[in-house]
Amino acid sequence: MTTFNKRRERFLAQLGDVAAIIPAASLVTHHADCEHRFRQDSDFWYLTGFDEPDAIALLLPFRPLGERFILFVHPKDPALEVWQGSRCGIKDAVKYFGADLAHPLDEFSQRLGDYLVGAESIAFRVGKHSKVEEIVLGVWSAQLDMASRRGLAPYSLIAPCPFIHQLRLRKDPEELERMREAARISVEAHELARKVARPGMNERELQAVIEKHFLEKGARGPAYGSIVATGDNACILHYTANNAPLRDGDLLLIDAGCSLEDYYNADITRTFPVNGKFNSEQRALYEIVFAAQQAAIETICPGQNAEGVHQAALKVLVEGLLEIGLLVGSVDEVIEKGFYRHFYMHRTGHWLGLDVHDVGAYRLGEYPVDLQSGMVLTVEPGLYISERLPVPEGQPEIDDCWKGIGIRIEDDVLVTDDGSEVFTESAVSKVEDVERC
Ligand code: GLY
Ligand code: MN
Ligand code: MN
Repeated sequence: MTTFNKRRERFLAQLGDVAAIIPAASLVTHHADCEHRFRQDSDFWYLTGFDEPDAIALLLPFRPLGERFILFVHPKDPALEVWQGSRCGIKDAVKYFGADLAHPLDEFSQRLGDYLVGAESIAFRVGKHSKVEEIVLGVWSAQLDMASRRGLAPYSLIAPCPFIHQLRLRKDPEELERMREAARISVEAHELARKVARPGMNERELQAVIEKHFLEKGARGPAYGSIVATGDNACILHYTANNAPLRDGDLLLIDAGCSLEDYYNADITRTFPVNGKFNSEQRALYEIVFAAQQAAIETICPGQNAEGVHQAALKVLVEGLLEIGLLVGSVDEVIEKGFYRHFYMHRTGHWLGLDVHDVGAYRLGEYPVDLQSGMVLTVEPGLYISERLPVPEGQPEIDDCWKGIGIRIEDDVLVTDDGSEVFTESAVSKVEDVERC
């Protein structure tokens, strides 16, 4: 049984008498008639491994064996394939992708009604796939119209996300191997960039070093817009302009990770001095972020939760900022009143997987979701000292010597049965390793 087959079985087992309709992604226009490179929908990929646009998967646990996994795909079309590349086609969707039955996409609207017979609900994510949605709602509405004559119809529409995302949150062993590979390539890219960075280079040159390595190692490319941010640019959390010169005396923050052919991602941030040596303010802040990250990673084990990891990092960040005088008051007061937020305005991490900010709940109502083995999260505390946000009342004005320092250290961490495994630990992050002799 293939990985995708096993996942579908687990998904089908959860659905009961619900018919799931899971669409693939479509091509997205970049400008004029040029399209972005195709990026498959992660839920669709997780269940099918099929990498073409516009396809639709039906998962029908209430149907007889041999009719439970249906794929609608673009049929083969030599004239179009000359332009767009080869398509799998109907027969091979069955042969290579394990579909029980496959049909051309343009038969979806006429066939869907029959496939829904016996379903008590429909699981379909509204608001994301407008063309498919129009058909699904139209077919469903017609079935409701006929319900009194037929005696039954799917009476509710539910979201499939909780079922799939619960599965995606705990990675299977094959996924973990792929994530280790994404981490390994991304670590190498960071190490290369740190070794070649010099004052006078442009941020973009280092972006090229990193992304070249991703491609050379067979990845699709960057998992997200690489951030190569020197000096004050590092205080812009989603900086992607990457077009400033590296100045002697500044720090350089690089947040970059690759995405593999099967969409598994890494997400790594490292910060280091452009000229190889921290000045005293940079070093002081770096040591605080490093200690916060270590403290957060140490708490990771089954039974902990994402909020606990965040609080562990936050406490060390605040203690450090109080010690160097960038904040005043007690740790508890600063945290309770949010007096640290002009220096640390994001959370300490997120789930990682097929999506960089991967799916899965962090909380169920008021209850935080416990970490369990097989979950992967980033741990990415930072400090950003700039003038963009106002200093909270009662807190000290920021001396110029601290301004323009942005630091983040980000690793990808697997929760294991008895603690954690840091996929990205070979990207050096201790002060003495990050400095160049
Ligand atoms: N690179 C995106 C993030 O760190 O969340
Ligand atoms: Mn991240
Ligand atoms: Mn990142």
